[in-house]
Amino acid sequence: MGKCLLLLLVVVLSSLLRFLQALECFQCHRVNASGVCESGESFCQTQGSQQCFLRKVYEGDTISYGYQGCSSLCVPMKIFKLSVTVEFRCCHDSPLCNKF
Ligand SMILES: *[C@@H]1O[C@H](CO)[C@@H](O)[C@H](O)[C@H]1NC(C)=O
Repeated sequence: MGKCLLLLLVVVLSSLLRFLQALECFQCHRVNASGVCESGESFCQTQGSQQCFLRKVYEGDTISYGYQGCSSLCVPMKIFKLSVTVEFRCCHDSPLCNKF
């Protein structure tokens, strides 16, 4: 019983630590449709509960442009507005996981 609880604690703590660990993410103010960063290319380190994010903006079915960076607001979502779709995705499982 005690061992089981300890094991659980270790699992919870290690996942928490992994979560708190700084992660390197791609950062770009504008990624064009071919996945090339056109402005503000750099890297960021997540802090606290931040994660890497990737936002893609589609016009109709075709990708229009995107953004990459670190964010603490990480609700995966899809917003539809007329013919524009904005897809927001976060990840924290590996460094630079927010590749376009
Ligand atoms: C994206 O940028 C690259 C480099 O500037 C360029 O070669 C490519 O044609 C661009 N793609 C689009 C879809 O604009």
